[in-house]
Amino acid sequence: MDGRPDYTGYVAKDPEQRARVRRVPGKAYWRVKAKEVVAALSYPYGVFKHSQLLRKVDRTSTHTYTCFYRAPTQLLTLSGPVLNFLGRQERNGKRLEIVVMACSNGAEPYTIASWLTQHVPDLDFHITATDLHQSMVDKAEAGEYTRDEALHSEYITPEFVAHTFDRRGDLYEVRPPLRAKVSFSQADLLDGETLRERFEPASLVLAQNVLFHLSPDKARIAFDNLYRMLASRAVLFIEGMDGDLRVELTKQYGLEPLADNLRRIYSETRVHTPVAWWDYYWGSEPYFPLRPDKDRRYGTIFLKRG
Ligand SMILES: C[S@@+](CC[C@H](N)C(=O)[O-])C[C@H]1O[C@@H](n2cnc3c(N)ncnc32)[C@H](O)[C@@H]1O
Repeated sequence: MDGRPDYTGYVAKDPEQRARVRRVPGKAYWRVKAKEVVAALSYPYGVFKHSQLLRKVDRTSTHTYTCFYRAPTQLLTLSGPVLNFLGRQERNGKRLEIVVMACSNGAEPYTIASWLTQHVPDLDFHITATDLHQSMVDKAEAGEYTRDEALHSEYITPEFVAHTFDRRGDLYEVRPPLRAKVSFSQADLLDGETLRERFEPASLVLAQNVLFHLSPDKARIAFDNLYRMLASRAVLFIEGMDGDLRVELTKQYGLEPLADNLRRIYSETRVHTPVAWWDYYWGSEPYFPLRPDKDRRYGTIFLKRG
């Protein structure tokens, strides 16, 4: 298979209705609290079962599930603390180069382009986005989405939709100024030699929800390749990676977890995780504040100070 979407559960949400629900505290709050209690009670069992599963399971490179506006707090942190760290003022006219690896159908890089053009309109940036599968690259380049593909985020807002898409019949087309900010091509995270030939070191590199689809040996190789893609002062976004490995490798490479909004981002990224997360190799555990190295384990944004 060459990266055909293997996830059929995209279901559009109504952005206006979501916005109304978010404004009214009530049922949703208690649902979250109930989930937290279940998560805490089942936590030791889950950790044990998941570690057993990880030892024997085969991973797949064809899981392409993605989402526009997947984790709004991560975006907020990007346009705030992350850009501050990278020096938004001291760029001296230099364009901010962003690399998004494993971009699936393009939802992630277009979301970033939409967010930055809306919230940091004077920022000069370009996103180079890649995926293993040429069919995903083609889909991303086309920039056209069904309603279900465009609107299935739990957090979708009318503002994001209006800034990101033009409507043509039933299709949601990414607006031309955003498309101009992103270029797509095929690349394999495991092919370090080619990556180093093709990519200049970048200030911001993302490889999200992909490392947990690789065996630990391959994830180590991919992580090393990602580290080598970073400029001397840079930031790595790495949501969706085995927790133990994340702690080990970020320590080994001297990367520092960004503490801002850490818990909230982690919780948002788990929104589609089933209650029995331990039955899925890509399942991530609920945030547990007593875990050693919790900022590394649950962090999705890491700083390289140079
Ligand atoms: C679950 S999707 C994540 C998409 C997006 N980054 C996100 O977070 O929404 C994982 C993507 O990783 C890609 N992938 C798998 N193995 C890869 C590899 N070795 N190199 C580059 N991309 C890979 C798959 O094709 C798929 O599109």
